[in-house]
Amino acid sequence: MNLHIAVLPGDGIGPEVTAGAVQVINAVAQRFDHSVTFTQADVGGASIDRYGTPLSQECLTICEKADSIILGAVGGSKWDSLPGELRPEAGLLGLRKHFELYANLRPVLLFDELRAACPLKPEFVKNGIDIMIVRELTGGMYFGKRGRIDTPDVGRSESEPESESRSGSRSESESESGSGSTKETYAFDTEAYSALEIRRIAITAFEAARLRKRRLTNVDKANVLESSRLWREIINSVKDSYPDVSLEHLYVDNASMQLIKRPSSFDVIVTSNMFGDILSDEASQIVGSIGVLPSASLGAKGKLFTFGMYEPAHGSAPDIAGKDIANPIAAILSAAMMFRYSFGLQDEASAIESAVKRALAAGFRTADIALQGENPVGTTDMTATITSFI
Ligand code: IPM
Ligand code: MG
Repeated sequence: MNLHIAVLPGDGIGPEVTAGAVQVINAVAQRFDHSVTFTQADVGGASIDRYGTPLSQECLTICEKADSIILGAVGGSKWDSLPGELRPEAGLLGLRKHFELYANLRPVLLFDELRAACPLKPEFVKNGIDIMIVRELTGGMYFGKRGRIDTPDVGRSESEPESESRSGSRSESESESGSGSTKETYAFDTEAYSALEIRRIAITAFEAARLRKRRLTNVDKANVLESSRLWREIINSVKDSYPDVSLEHLYVDNASMQLIKRPSSFDVIVTSNMFGDILSDEASQIVGSIGVLPSASLGAKGKLFTFGMYEPAHGSAPDIAGKDIANPIAAILSAAMMFRYSFGLQDEASAIESAVKRALAAGFRTADIALQGENPVGTTDMTATITSFI
């Protein structure tokens, strides 16, 4: 096959870990006789520094022409004081939205070789951990209306107690003359989902469950949020077409607890953008490190073998950037997902996954997964070792 991949290294450790992914992709291409062209573009902080915007037209054009995108990470303190729409993160969100990559697949797998790096007691994980988090990626609070406003009577629903909860922040003159006399600053972000947005992610999740152990857990906050009540209604209606898949519902607070208590019982988890962001970071810790968690972001009506963006679930980790100590495994496993989901090349994907396992089995560990007394290897050595097993 001729594969054309856009490479967006981004910020912090992004360039180091994407270099690892590129090296492994080249090795796979060589072994399986594919020709690969990489085109690099800036995104996030790197793009701000160069073009004054976190997502340039140049970058979008390069991505539009490619078969898939490999992305590193975005963000860093250097750009923290910029307004929201100009921050590096806006570049990543802009890409997700532009390509309507609404389905974010985050596999959470405990490698046998990394059992010792799992912080849970052995009896909690004796049956292993193998979860697929299906996170909605282009809706909810991330893309809802947001802003700041000075009117005291917005931002709270009428059914809620009005002033008591905020009495601490009221000025004296305000409490004397009643609400409205003194301006107070409010900030708001809106959680909004359409039935269509919920239905398509529900279908992705049920289909994913069908290819796995046929168990789906829906995570929402339907005891409080109206958007979650619609979410749950739609999940239940899509369930009718999947009688072979079992469905449980959990509130997000309970789900975060159950993930620790009974991680082996989960198969596929479907949840909103915000809850998925939080739960996937939590889940990464029970499999050793966020440094091993890959992700695939797919669109095009959730169909497989289509354009996608592949990125580690971790961030730009500016504190360890440029030191050759970051774990490249999440980026490398994201490349495996790219072969599997965008190109339909299962053997190539498996070759990468087993190369990672062999490197771990041979005792290679980056600092984030090394135990006390183990001598960690750097990013380039880990990458070279994995590449040698392709
Ligand atoms: C992730 C990240 C992003 C998100 C940030 C960098 C905007 O945390 O991919 O999980 O919140 O989606
Ligand atoms: Mg996150």
